[in-house]
Amino acid sequence: MIGRLNHVAIAVPDLAAATANYRDTLGAKVSAPQDLPDHGVTVVFVELPNTKIELLHPLGDNSPIRKFLDANPAGGIHHVSYEVGDIYAARDRLRKSGKRVLGDGEPKTGAHGTPVLFLHPKDFAGTLVEIEEVKR
Ligand code: CO
Repeated sequence: MIGRLNHVAIAVPDLAAATANYRDTLGAKVSAPQDLPDHGVTVVFVELPNTKIELLHPLGDNSPIRKFLDANPAGGIHHVSYEVGDIYAARDRLRKSGKRVLGDGEPKTGAHGTPVLFLHPKDFAGTLVEIEEVKR
């Protein structure tokens, strides 16, 4: 069921500094910052040969990563995203295994315009897991 690692999302308190670190220190290709008001984040995409890193910074007062940064002021890994071929089939299989799908269980459109769901960290070794439907 599980496919490629699509991205690792890292919440950062200083987006410019984190971007410079990946671009200048690590030599990675980075995007311009993109505001995603529907998701309450500004994101910089870091392109690696085999996956992506997403640097997340809160946007607006109700940002879902604000609390995370309050608890982790230096930043930290926020979630990992795995690709699945059929998000409804994946959701139903996870639920059958007793895993908790966050929210109302209906896929939302993620940062890449593809359907996504999030899974409860307590069911996955303390890691917030995103599943993302990607057709390859
Ligand atoms: Co994500």
